[in-house]
Amino acid sequence: GAPLDVDLAPITDGQIVNVFWRGKLIFVRKLTAKEVTDMKAIPLSELSDPAPFDARVKSGHDQWLVVYGNCTHLGCVPIGHQGNFEGWACPCHGSQFDAVGRVRRGPAPINLPVPPYTFASDTKVRIG
Ligand code: FES
Repeated sequence: GAPLDVDLAPITDGQIVNVFWRGKLIFVRKLTAKEVTDMKAIPLSELSDPAPFDARVKSGHDQWLVVYGNCTHLGCVPIGHQGNFEGWACPCHGSQFDAVGRVRRGPAPINLPVPPYTFASDTKVRIG
């Protein structure tokens, strides 16, 4: 499939935008400065699928998260800005994800995966 360009300019701090690439839901999220600080401070020992902050975002673009938008348990769509970890809560069986999509609670076995993407410019992401 063709790559998908997403214009980041209209996305405000804390906002989550849904896009579709190859038929899959993807969340593009602009983290607040507080969320960046909080997520960097979480010890890997607290994570069931340990992934450092730097593995969840692109270098130099700390505020931007791009992840697949289906729960890694059975595929429901987690709801943004719900749950206890500044991220998402899945309405189906209670999995919770933090602001960079790492699983923090519930039956989801792994983090929300990061799709292939690059920054075409500071305000444009190219998925694919
Ligand atoms: Fe999300 Fe089961 S599908 S917790």
